[in-house]
Amino acid sequence: MLFTKNDFGEGFKWGVSTAAHQVEGAHNIDGKGLSIWDTFAEKKNKIFNNDNANTACDFYTHYADDIALIYKLNIPNYRFSISWSRILPHGVGAINHKGIDFYNRVIDFCLELGIEPWITLYHWDLPHDLQQKGGWTNREVIHWFSYFVDCCLKNFGDRVKHWMVLNEPMVFTGAGYFLGVHAPGKKGLSSFLAAAHHAALCQAEGGRMIRSLRHDCKVGTTFSYSHIEPYRADNEKDIRAAVKADALLNRLFIEPLLGLGYPTKDVKIIERIERFMYPHDEQKLAFDMDFIGLQNYTRELIAHAPLIPFVHAKIIKASKRNVPHTLMDWEIHPPSIYHALKRYNNYKGIKEIIVTENGAAFPDVHEEGKVNDFERVKYLQDHIAQVLKAKQEGVKVNGYFVWTLMDNFEWAEGYFPRFGLVYVDFTTQQRVVKNSGRWYSQFLKNTVTASMEVWEKNGSKMI
Ligand code: GAL
Repeated sequence: MLFTKNDFGEGFKWGVSTAAHQVEGAHNIDGKGLSIWDTFAEKKNKIFNNDNANTACDFYTHYADDIALIYKLNIPNYRFSISWSRILPHGVGAINHKGIDFYNRVIDFCLELGIEPWITLYHWDLPHDLQQKGGWTNREVIHWFSYFVDCCLKNFGDRVKHWMVLNEPMVFTGAGYFLGVHAPGKKGLSSFLAAAHHAALCQAEGGRMIRSLRHDCKVGTTFSYSHIEPYRADNEKDIRAAVKADALLNRLFIEPLLGLGYPTKDVKIIERIERFMYPHDEQKLAFDMDFIGLQNYTRELIAHAPLIPFVHAKIIKASKRNVPHTLMDWEIHPPSIYHALKRYNNYKGIKEIIVTENGAAFPDVHEEGKVNDFERVKYLQDHIAQVLKAKQEGVKVNGYFVWTLMDNFEWAEGYFPRFGLVYVDFTTQQRVVKNSGRWYSQFLKNTVTASMEVWEKNGSKMI
């Protein structure tokens, strides 16, 4: 399929995403308080190679060069998050003005270069002090979060017009409070359901607050979404397991937001969330966002697994199925993003969809100032083609952001998987634009089509 940026229309938002904890470093500099990821990384064997994000890409120091790079790459929108404990070291209470100054510098420099800043309020780095009081499992988190939202909107809302409340609540509650593989490393159904319900309340409450504080802002929130299919297409048990996994992974947070309640019919254990519900919570879970951020990387095949507690379902990994996959062992399956978009579009009440993350980790090699990551170029082209297909069929998708600008701290996987359009040498902090970064830049400049063949013949020589 040959296409150009023009095929998406004038108003389509092209961008790139990062998150505070993954790039900033400066974890205890200029008054920043610790977050749950800072303390989680201090524990042994929680993170690949026992890496931590104390320095990461040192975006705290290099932000101007990095934003200038976004500008040079012709990327008009930049999505980043605010580190809660950088501006409120204890989560609530005293403000750290040096933290506020930092984000003011970031925002102002973006605007100076004509780059539109998009802010995610919460991208997983809860202040450690709040975790000491139970974190997301404590209903008080609604007040703590409101305090943080208020602080961000009052300080940055005059210049930032696009806000996202939460990043992928299913991932931070599931991995952080059910499986214990992400910070804060808690396990168990009870802590997961409490955290999930409070996060679902916060996503709606955050939306309401932003709208009431600033009428001129667009407010959204983001969700992870993997297209799900049964491992054996004709096996009844696998089909049922897939329905359950889909309800848990793809529907648990978006449906209450849309006023549909939790998907308890398809995944029984969710009924127990009622233990954490107060009168009128059902209504409080709903809010009409201006846009929904969709984040897609892969599809998942699900098999019946009687020994897996609660869900009796498991993901069959791509490497086991012998299909092409990325370094995360995620299948490369571009139609997944098309299915995700179609599915969201079918929900009543979604006004606009923005793909706020899509990208891939491959074993990049840096040689003589070049990184020829042809697999990533192809991944991006194939996924963008699927977004266009959905758009041409009438799906209300109006933006696409690559995950991510530069290689960074990939949570429990440390620095091993590199997702960036820009290569980072973590010893010297040198940045090297990869071929994928060059391709995206040329595509956004509208001088190349999205075709691997054409790009290989001409595009890569054009820079
Ligand atoms: C998302 C997350 C990002 C990034 C990406 C790649 O789930 O929002 O922070 O890590 O996955 O794994």
